[in-house]
Amino acid sequence: MSNVELKQAVKSFGDVTVIHGIDLQLNSGEFIVFVGPSGCGKSTLLRLVAGLETLSSGSIHIGDQDVTHTEAVDRGIAMVFQSYALYPHMTVEQNMGFGLKMTGVDKEEVAEKVAKAAKTLQLDKLLDRKPKNLSGGQRQRVAIGRAIVREPEVFLFDEPLSNLDAELRVEMRLQIAKLHEQIGATMIYVTHDQVEAMTMADRIVVLRLGHVEQVGSPLELYHHPKNLFVAGFIGSPKMNFIKATLKEGSATSAVIDVDGQTITLPVNAENAVAGSAVTLGMRPEDLGDNSGDFALSLQVEVAERLGGSTYLYGQCSGLENFVVQRAGLDDTKEGSSMNVNVHAANCHLFAEDESAFPRLSTSGLST
Ligand SMILES: Nc1ncnc2c1ncn2[C@@H]1O[C@H](COP(=O)(O)OP(=O)(O)O)[C@@H](O)[C@H]1O
Ligand SMILES: [Mg+2]
Repeated sequence: MSNVELKQAVKSFGDVTVIHGIDLQLNSGEFIVFVGPSGCGKSTLLRLVAGLETLSSGSIHIGDQDVTHTEAVDRGIAMVFQSYALYPHMTVEQNMGFGLKMTGVDKEEVAEKVAKAAKTLQLDKLLDRKPKNLSGGQRQRVAIGRAIVREPEVFLFDEPLSNLDAELRVEMRLQIAKLHEQIGATMIYVTHDQVEAMTMADRIVVLRLGHVEQVGSPLELYHHPKNLFVAGFIGSPKMNFIKATLKEGSATSAVIDVDGQTITLPVNAENAVAGSAVTLGMRPEDLGDNSGDFALSLQVEVAERLGGSTYLYGQCSGLENFVVQRAGLDDTKEGSSMNVNVHAANCHLFAEDESAFPRLSTSGLST
């Protein structure tokens, strides 16, 4: 187990900078998820930690060592990729042990470590199989097993579940979470899937265009997103955003105008500029109640009934695809209009520069 630290990490390819001076401190034993849209620099950041890319400037530390100029093989890390890259002619056992064997570890020790890892990953009955006779999930487990036998200080995963179907992804997600509990190593996991980030991470690092937007626990990001980008990225379906005007702000409230309605929200708006354009954010799952502090009118266009919940989509205050999530079966007709009740304490408010006004209360967990 080791902590990992990046200091002012910059990476450029030619004259294009893709990682812009990132500072990060990851604690020993933590499960960290790097999340963000495609192309934001997740893989590059992970490859910098692995030593597969070299920094343009800044430094990387693993444990108490400065590894900025250390070769990948000497960094005490193991990496699992989206493509499993197993040797087709080798059995599961040989695939898992190959790396160790090549570094000169004796046969019995390799066999012992492979057997132990195979048991952890429930591969012990498949040791004699070739990769072509395994399912996608089993192949990915072999790839993880190959990493485990090396007993690394830090595990790196780059979108390891993207090639699996939805059901297997959920299963593997649980398996990796359990593995982390069992072996307690520091793990850095890259994904573009915010559900994987929310369910697996101790802390999430949200990246955009090579910058860190926010670092925090899943529920911190959910309840207190620092800006519009994080608010829109975390949560499914996405938060609804409506344009509004700020009338006045104080340390304990913001008074806004939404379509001629005056609404007071419990946020710290002491830095607000009266008359400025703001964005009101409301999560679909916060909108299903029969009462609230104010109401908006929704023109329902589509209703998706999933059994356990109902999603109502339509136009609301100039937003095309406003979504309301209601618990259970909801018989609201498509084409009808309805009042959406909103609790002021559930709202998020964003300034013109996209930064959030800090919320003073949350009706959920306030982690
Ligand atoms: N070897 C490379 N040469 C030039 N540009 C690269 C190279 N690797 C990545 N990039 C660029 O860096 C940016 C970040 O890429 P990447 O880290 O792969 O993003 P992500 O994993 O978040 O999808 C992208 O714009 C990509 O085109
Ligand atoms: Mg990538």
